[in-house]
Amino acid sequence: MSNNLLAGKVGIISGALNSQSIAWKVAQKAHEQGARIVLTNAPLAMRMGEIKALAAEIDAPIIPADATSVEELNTLFTEAQSHFGGKIDFLLHSIGMSANIRKGKSYGDLDYKFFQQTLDVSALSLHKMLAVAEKQDAFNEWGSVVALSYIAAQRAFLDYTDMAQAKAVLESIARSYGQRLGHLKKVRVNTISQSPTKTTAGTGISGFNAFYEYAEKMAPLGSMGSISVPFWNSSIMKG
Ligand SMILES: NC(=O)c1ccc[n+]([C@@H]2O[C@H](COP(=O)([O-])OP(=O)(O)OC[C@H]3O[C@@H](n4cnc5c(N)ncnc54)[C@H](O)[C@@H]3O)[C@@H](O)[C@H]2O)c1
Repeated sequence: MSNNLLAGKVGIISGALNSQSIAWKVAQKAHEQGARIVLTNAPLAMRMGEIKALAAEIDAPIIPADATSVEELNTLFTEAQSHFGGKIDFLLHSIGMSANIRKGKSYGDLDYKFFQQTLDVSALSLHKMLAVAEKQDAFNEWGSVVALSYIAAQRAFLDYTDMAQAKAVLESIARSYGQRLGHLKKVRVNTISQSPTKTTAGTGISGFNAFYEYAEKMAPLGSMGSISVPFWNSSIMKG
């Protein structure tokens, strides 16, 4: 049901890979609530093609950008503002990748090149996005930025390997940049600690089913395995 909660708001949503992606559902719901959206993802994800179906459904352009490339992020924010004819109100950072997880490396046997890539893709990309946005003065006052975290940022979950460190860095960047952008533009920067959700990134983690079942039992309303969206919209609105 639409209450037009995001009528007149415009923003960038990263990370919609397929219809299981958290970003995919957020984009559908934000569109339903009246927002205008620019979708972005890594060029490789573009080639996989599914995002084009979402773009057609919600009438959003796709601007490809590798979130580790400041140059490509500069293009993303410039083109998004040109598409909207002004500054943006919200940004969803929904990006994560660990080659150590993909290759089944245990915590004691991490590949350090992969580890650096995990930090770059999954955490520093938030800083890069915000630094580019700040330099372009791309946010409207009272804008809102949301990034996806996981409880392993704060507790030991060994199967989450280097992503645990990436999420700790992501949360720290959100605090520091939240303070900076709050002072500069009254822009809120928050992370949401998402419960285990059956997406491409989520199900790649060994032991994922145990995480999922545990959350299902512990959470008062069960796991958010199929993402509940009113909360998301209120996060975008209120920070
Ligand atoms: N699924 C879960 O259980 C869960 C739990 C907590 C947090 N999260 C976080 O939620 C976010 C979204 O993940 P998801 O579960 O929807 O999985 P997903 O695989 O659908 O989304 C991950 C996205 O990151 C994108 N990406 C990877 N490298 C990139 C790069 N260099 N530049 C730009 N984009 C890049 C991928 O293309 C993909 O769209 C991630 O930050 C993830 O860590 C997921």
